[in-house]
Amino acid sequence: MGRPRRRTDALTPPRSTRLGTAGLPGEARIGGSEERASLRSGREAGSWDEQYRNGRYRSEPPVAFVEDILEAARSHDAMGGPGLYVGCGNGRNYLPLVAGGLDLFGLDISRVAIEQLAARAPARRSRLIVGDISALPRDARFAMVVGIQVFQHGRRAETHRHIQAAQDHVAGAGLFALRVNAVGTDTEHDHSETEHGSDGGLTISYLAGPKAGLDVHFFSELELDRLFEGWEPAMALRSQVTWRSPPARGQWTQWEGIWKRPG
Ligand SMILES: C[S@@+](CC[C@H](N)C(=O)[O-])C[C@H]1O[C@@H](n2cnc3c(N)ncnc32)[C@H](O)[C@@H]1O
Repeated sequence: MGRPRRRTDALTPPRSTRLGTAGLPGEARIGGSEERASLRSGREAGSWDEQYRNGRYRSEPPVAFVEDILEAARSHDAMGGPGLYVGCGNGRNYLPLVAGGLDLFGLDISRVAIEQLAARAPARRSRLIVGDISALPRDARFAMVVGIQVFQHGRRAETHRHIQAAQDHVAGAGLFALRVNAVGTDTEHDHSETEHGSDGGLTISYLAGPKAGLDVHFFSELELDRLFEGWEPAMALRSQVTWRSPPARGQWTQWEGIWKRPG
C-alpha cells in the first residue's frame, strides 16, 4: 500500500488498513475555534509556548532514534500510514520522519510549536493539530504512533493514562515508538521527589529552571515492561545516555523502544 496521494485519504483510508481515522482534522485547526486542547493544557502549554518562543529546538538535529523508527516502519509494513506523532514540537524529529516516508499527524499542546512547524512545512499544515490526545476521535487508529520525550510529563498515574490512551490509537499489528525519561538520570535543577513506585519509577516536581512548578516522571524498565505487556518488541528497549555540555553537569538517560501491537 502506498502513501495517501490526496489530503482526504486519511479521512477515508483503504479498508485493508483497518485504520479508523474518520473525523480527524482535514484542514488546519491550528488557528481555529475547534481547537480542543485539554487535560494538562493551561500551565504546561504556556510553559512550552514560552520555550518555543525562546528558540527551543530551533537548530537542534533529530535524535538518532528517528532512523530506528523509519527502519521499523519499513520492516513492519507501517509506512502506508497514516501515523500519529504525539507531542511533535516544532519539527526537529517530525520533519525527518515525514521526509523518510511516514505520513504523520502532528499533535502538540503548544500552539507556538505547531505554528513554527507549519511555517517550516506549509504542505503539512492540514496534518497539524493543537491539542492533546483527547482531540482525536476515539476510534482513530494509526499504523504507527510516535512519542518522543512527551509521555514523561506529569505524575505517574497521569503518564500511565497518557501512554494507555495513545496505545488505544494503535491499529492491530501497528507500532508504538517511545522515547521517555529513564530513572538514573542526573537531575539538573532543584526539585523534590514526590513519588517513588515499587517498580522503581519516580516523579519529581521541579522547584527551579525552565520546568519550575511542573511534574516530570522517570520510568523504570519494569514499569515499561508492564505497560507494554502483551505487545511484541519490534526494537528491544534500550537506554540512551546523553552527557550535558559544560557548564551543565551529569547525564540524562532516555529509554527507547518500539513495540508491535498484536494483530
Ligand atoms: C520535550 S518536547 C519534545 C518535542 C518533540 N517530540 C521533539 O523531540 O522535538 C515535549 C513536547 O510535548 C508537548 N506536550 C506536552 N504534553 C503534551 C500532551 N499531553 N499532549 C501533546 N503534546 C504535549 C510539548 O508542548 C512539547 O512540544
